[in-house]
Amino acid sequence: MPGNCSARRRPGRLVGVGIGPGDPELVTVKAQRVIRESDRVVAPSTALDAVGKAEAIVREAVPGTPVDRFCFDMTHDPEARYIELATTTLVPWLQQGLQVAFVTIGDPNIYSTFSSVARAVRSLDPEATIETVPGIMAFQALAASTSTVLVDGTGSLSLVTALDGVAHLRKALDEDGAVVVYKGGRHINEVRSCLESTGRLEGALCGELLGWPGEQILAVSDLDGRPASYLSTVIVPPTPAPTPAPTPAFGAKKEQ
Ligand SMILES: C[S@@+](CC[C@H](N)C(=O)[O-])C[C@H]1O[C@@H](n2cnc3c(N)ncnc32)[C@H](O)[C@@H]1O
Repeated sequence: MPGNCSARRRPGRLVGVGIGPGDPELVTVKAQRVIRESDRVVAPSTALDAVGKAEAIVREAVPGTPVDRFCFDMTHDPEARYIELATTTLVPWLQQGLQVAFVTIGDPNIYSTFSSVARAVRSLDPEATIETVPGIMAFQALAASTSTVLVDGTGSLSLVTALDGVAHLRKALDEDGAVVVYKGGRHINEVRSCLESTGRLEGALCGELLGWPGEQILAVSDLDGRPASYLSTVIVPPTPAPTPAPTPAFGAKKEQ
């Protein structure tokens, strides 16, 4: 009946789904379920014909899932792109009451495109429900595969980016706690020098392309001076280290 309150639309649901750093076995059961149950699954990509990292993980972990690509070109105004995606695609789906999963590497609440996408959607459709499903992060995968204990007891852990250089890292190293450096591939030499000059090089590890073909894990002291991949994570154990120095298990080949 026109004007009947019961005709109010069911709000759509946008879910940011963290799907881990690369290894499909690190996609949680909940993430797989939400992907399966969603009406649409959206993944960021660099071009319409490019399978992005998140989509590649979905293909392995939840085979047969149709994925809509959201082309995200870093050279253009990102905020404008998020608004465009929300306006042209996400909000119309949400207004039909659909559940939309936006898959993102690692965790959706940590340095993720999803936060900006969610902000854009909320500004256009305040009624939409927005939720997240946590994901395993690259630094956890690196600590696990190298048997590195990052924090125990009353220790602390800082997560910094080195996208624009090592200022945040330097500040974090004022404390004795463990430090994780994200987005430091381009500035990996500065990262190394910073660790060296503060006496924190020992035990620091760099994991590149974790869970992907070409994965490489090296002591930061062994890096050869070339920039590392954007997908690089550095872990710096606390001082003093909470356990014996990391076992060099990272050289071991995965069992097939
Ligand atoms: C835009 S942030 C995404 C972070 C992600 N939301 C998370 O929770 O891990 C990208 C950074 O995450 C780290 N990263 C993500 N996946 C990685 C991987 N497979 N190997 C190494 N580093 C990775 C790198 O430091 C990279 O520069």
